Amino acid sequence: MREFLIVLLVMALAGCGHDAESRAAAGDSSDTSTAVAPDEVETVPAPTGADVDVHTFANISQFRVRHADLSLRVDFEQKSLSGSVQLRVERLDPEANELILDTRDLDVKAVALNLSGSKLKEVPWRLGPRDEALGQPLLIDVSEAGRAQRFAVMVRYSTSPQASGLQWLEPRQSGDSHPFLFSQSQAIHARSWIPLQDSPQVRMTYNATIHTPPELRALMSADNDPAAARNGRFSFAMPQAIPSYLFAIAVGNLEFKAMSRRTGVYALPGVVDAAAAEFADTEAMLEIGEAMFGPYRWGRYDLLILPPSFPFGGMENPRLSFITPTVIAGDRSLVSLIAHELAHSWSGNLVTNATWRDLWLNEGFTTYFTSRIMEAVYGVDRRRMEDVLGVQDLREDLATADSGDQRLVPDLQGRDPDDVFSDIPYEKGKLFLDFLEARFGRERFDLFLQGYFDRFAFQSVTTEQFVAYLDRNLLQAEPGRVSLEEVREWIYAPGLPATAVLPESDAFDRVAAQRDNWLRGEAAARELDTDGWTVHEWRFFIDTLPVELTPAQLAELDEAFALTATGNAEIGLAWYKVAIRNDYRPAYPAIEQYLTAIGRRKLIRPLYIALMKTDDGAEFARRVYLQARPGYHPIATASIDPIVLPDES
Ligand code: BES
Ligand code: ZN
Repeated sequence: MREFLIVLLVMALAGCGHDAESRAAAGDSSDTSTAVAPDEVETVPAPTGADVDVHTFANISQFRVRHADLSLRVDFEQKSLSGSVQLRVERLDPEANELILDTRDLDVKAVALNLSGSKLKEVPWRLGPRDEALGQPLLIDVSEAGRAQRFAVMVRYSTSPQASGLQWLEPRQSGDSHPFLFSQSQAIHARSWIPLQDSPQVRMTYNATIHTPPELRALMSADNDPAAARNGRFSFAMPQAIPSYLFAIAVGNLEFKAMSRRTGVYALPGVVDAAAAEFADTEAMLEIGEAMFGPYRWGRYDLLILPPSFPFGGMENPRLSFITPTVIAGDRSLVSLIAHELAHSWSGNLVTNATWRDLWLNEGFTTYFTSRIMEAVYGVDRRRMEDVLGVQDLREDLATADSGDQRLVPDLQGRDPDDVFSDIPYEKGKLFLDFLEARFGRERFDLFLQGYFDRFAFQSVTTEQFVAYLDRNLLQAEPGRVSLEEVREWIYAPGLPATAVLPESDAFDRVAAQRDNWLRGEAAARELDTDGWTVHEWRFFIDTLPVELTPAQLAELDEAFALTATGNAEIGLAWYKVAIRNDYRPAYPAIEQYLTAIGRRKLIRPLYIALMKTDDGAEFARRVYLQARPGYHPIATASIDPIVLPDES
């Protein structure tokens, strides 16, 4: 045990696996080390290099972009955004003369300095070599700005039809008679539609003018006006400084429906009423969030319901969360996703992970807050069920991740953050905070959290800064409850620490009893007491069935509960996994339909993985995938191509 703890300590001090050379080569430090208040210097360790963002080319210690002015035309024919961005830059290093921005697949046409007000002067620039994961650096000679501490640089450019952060849908793909465009910038895709410093350590405000076909509406992660006229020109302002991964845009035939004074839904005409009814509790969630974590600082909170090809469940774009339509179940059973995206208004958008290695600071905190909001709005029983299902998901991911990736802070050097995505930062991060809450008591822990959000509001934080803050403001303030070694085990060790407080649910105990009656042959499926079961009970029931079931058993369940024909995307995923594992053919047409209609990565990727395990399944998977692939988002295909088409990728 002692050796183990020493190893953990050494790993922590050594910057957690980031090798010294790569740190030196990257050569950047960040705002995060200078953001420390003077009285905290003693407890906050000197920068170890853990704050280096290995996913940006930008020289962010020499220059900082503070504001962006975008002017873009949306061309559905060319599948391209074209226009310009003007960046207001602050020079931090007086000797620096080369500004480096991130780009990916951008067609850069000209770069100019805006020297005195409006006089533009073209300056030399070049694109550096392309990196598969990171794209290409744009190196701009800014020596003509002289020694000015502030200057503005304008880049004229257009995006590629293959831009990794954009999806262009034809009218027939959008579920509407109009085309549709939406962005997904997290983690490192903003650079595929805007040349900028694409690092979560850089925050900027922005303004934008977006030109669209006159019948469509444009929305951004900014001050959307539900009453804006559709006249082909939309103006936006985002007055709070945000990191680049929260830049977002969508354009389509979008209608608006208010849910409360400050919340509403944007969606296609056929969806907007159902969405507003499904998510009517958004205002209640917002009020709970404010009571728990402090004021909501962003003005309006609206939802945008995307077409089913949206590759994520949700994305916390400020003031306007992007939401998959697959959570419109008709019974509000999947609305924890809204609580999650809303909670990011504090954890993530206000206090932001400094690098993608620190993603758990965004997602683990948010998963913890989601539980708290769900408990306050829907009661503790529902919260417990969702917690148990979360741990089930975590165990699945821990079983397949190698030990380095089981840590809350994986080593991402040389890797694409999209390739490392799993439930581990979410659910293990949440269990870590559950553990702290259990040890310190909810009241004391809430006080600590409020202090943390105040202290680091509108800043980026590394895991090491969080640990130092936690140590000083909670561990040392309430001695004898939690040791630093226990904290470090949570953060730097693989697996699940023995100190974890695992959730339990009475409701699931009752489901387990029903399941066992059926498995032992004591009751037929249609005799089981499933009245009032929601997606939670069904997921638990299906996920905990034995690995192998007979064709007769599968048919009996299907006949009794119409599982193959479910309209609930989560029940579908659970049941189709069982069907594929047992080669239950009657479900395959529905699986094909599901994989063709939905592009949400979390729902479809596990099915492709399961199908690829047998020859017949693989053949089916390849056929369906080739048919569905043109409708999937680039982020989804990038992570499914290697599974279904390994020879071609
Ligand atoms: N911010 C994430 C999505 C994300 C994370 C995109 C990392 C790219 C990189 C978002 O808040 C999220 O967590 N979405 C989840 C839903 C949630 C309820 C767990 C999803 O999309 O499944
Ligand atoms: Zn999230």
